[in-house]
Amino acid sequence: SYFAPKTTPLAGHSALVTAGPTHEALDPVRYIANHSSGKQGYAIARALKTLGANVTLVSGPTHLPPPDGITYIPITSAREMLKACENALPVDIAICTAAVADWRVTEQSNQKIKKISGDDAPTLSFIQNPDILATLSKQGPKRPGLVIGFAAETENVESNAKSKRQRKGCDWILANDVSPETGTFGGDDNTLFLIDETGTDCWEKMSKEASAAKLSVLIADKLKLNT
Ligand code: CTP
Ligand code: CA
Repeated sequence: SYFAPKTTPLAGHSALVTAGPTHEALDPVRYIANHSSGKQGYAIARALKTLGANVTLVSGPTHLPPPDGITYIPITSAREMLKACENALPVDIAICTAAVADWRVTEQSNQKIKKISGDDAPTLSFIQNPDILATLSKQGPKRPGLVIGFAAETENVESNAKSKRQRKGCDWILANDVSPETGTFGGDDNTLFLIDETGTDCWEKMSKEASAAKLSVLIADKLKLNT
């Protein structure tokens, strides 16, 4: 049978995508997490693969099936995510969509924390997790040529995202307006702003699939300019 030839402008290029939440254990049976669905990251991994890229998806726990034809690395915690990403280097493109837990408990208990009647509730103390996007952006010679982050903001979306881009040292930030009135959080649609060194491009509201496809085409155009 005849298959129309596809355009695969990302053939020969490698991409690393992080997705989903991380789970940070308190003890062997409990963890701290967030509501990230992983949808956006999985959609981006699929879209890059469709354009011919060699894709590694490092994902926290989600309810989504691993996309076909990519290297899938499931992890649980932020520290595992960082290790898996460092092991995936070098890559041409890195896209961090994961909702990495900002903190983990200072000391994880080896035994289930017990509730003894009459006792007070436990007090948890936290330390910061590694920042995967910032670490990838500052890799020196192994730095991916194009590093892209996401920023979920509920207010001052553009200015918060601009300073986040500076702070992290990434090339592009996709800012996501997740204020309740947009109905974005956890949904199938996104209202995104692409921020690069030249300024801000506001995208119309579209599905996560459509924004993943649009982003992948922009990435392919950018890599073409660079060769
Ligand atoms: N990110 C990451 N590792 C972390 C925290 C965030 O890789 N430990 C990445 C996310 O995947 C995203 C970007 O950094 O691409 C921005 O995440 P966000 O949570 O918006 O930024 P923070 O710097 O954690 O700031 P805050 O949560 O306070 O807004
Ligand atoms: Ca955060």
